[in-house]
Amino acid sequence: MGEKKRILTGDRPTGRLHIGHYFGSLKKRVELQNSGLYEPYILIADVQALTDNFNNPEKVRKNVREVAIDYLSCGIDPEKSTIYIQSMIPEVAELTVFYSNLVTIARLQRNPTVKTEIAQKKDLFGESVTYGFLGYPVSQAADITAFEGEVVPVGEDQLPLIEQCREIVRKFNSIYGEVLVEPQAVLSSGKRIKGLDGNEKMGKSLGNAIYLSDSEEEITKKVMGAVTDPSRIRKDDKGNPEICMVSYYHNLFSTKEECKIVCEECRQGQRGCVACKKQLANNIINTLKPIREKRKYYEENPEIVDKILMDGTKKAQEVAKQTMKKVKKAMRLDY
Ligand code: TRP
Repeated sequence: MGEKKRILTGDRPTGRLHIGHYFGSLKKRVELQNSGLYEPYILIADVQALTDNFNNPEKVRKNVREVAIDYLSCGIDPEKSTIYIQSMIPEVAELTVFYSNLVTIARLQRNPTVKTEIAQKKDLFGESVTYGFLGYPVSQAADITAFEGEVVPVGEDQLPLIEQCREIVRKFNSIYGEVLVEPQAVLSSGKRIKGLDGNEKMGKSLGNAIYLSDSEEEITKKVMGAVTDPSRIRKDDKGNPEICMVSYYHNLFSTKEECKIVCEECRQGQRGCVACKKQLANNIINTLKPIREKRKYYEENPEIVDKILMDGTKKAQEVAKQTMKKVKKAMRLDY
């Protein structure tokens, strides 16, 4: 059993999860979990969520359980994966302080992920970013190394954070001795799912996402509003599926055969957008049905979710404690 590689991954609980998360990471996590080759630890990164939501603690609090429910509904199995709450692992905060000596401010400012995010968060930070936000890659390095995470399945946007973690590990080990495990990033998906409006990113603030928790009516309504070929005005105009979000989503949710027919009929002007959208909405509804049903069960039984979170966190605390012992010994802090 001991040979299983430890996976460390997680999400910021700033909102419920949507189909972009599902195709982008959840599906892959469930696959890795079920392969039997790994021991996954999945953190709900509430402290990290606060770095850009410090003024909205209630939002973070509420979404911890929502994200846990999304995980469970998608097939993360608490018998196989340990789901835990970041803020309940004090060692992560301690390690963050220790590691902060091993990384320069200039290096953090150059981190592409941090750079992009700071640019996106002008509303929150204005011209001057907080120490906590600039330093969140250090805290993420603590997340990973506290659990001796070997494999970190993440989206492409997270790769610079893993690289930063690896640098911190090497620096630590070169000074204090070979204690920390250097993680490996594994890309969890080849593609990022675009929003219903064609935006490269699906997200709550953009209002272009389908959530795993959306009702059948919400899904239908959202699909009906999806962006199609703008030059196609009448039903028998010839359409171009290449620039149509409905066609893009058919490729994710419909059979190959259906996709072929839909595209052909659109190109010939034989199929109206409304019919096409209805068919897509139905397919999305059916695909997400098992997730929605499981979600309903957990929503109605929040005490089960909370118990899973507390059991996972307890287990995680034990692991982090062991790592901290080694770290403190290496750093001559073992009083
Ligand atoms: N930064 C990740 C995100 O925004 C969440 C996260 C926090 C994470 N700690 C992590 C991911 C450790 C992988 C490993 O989605």
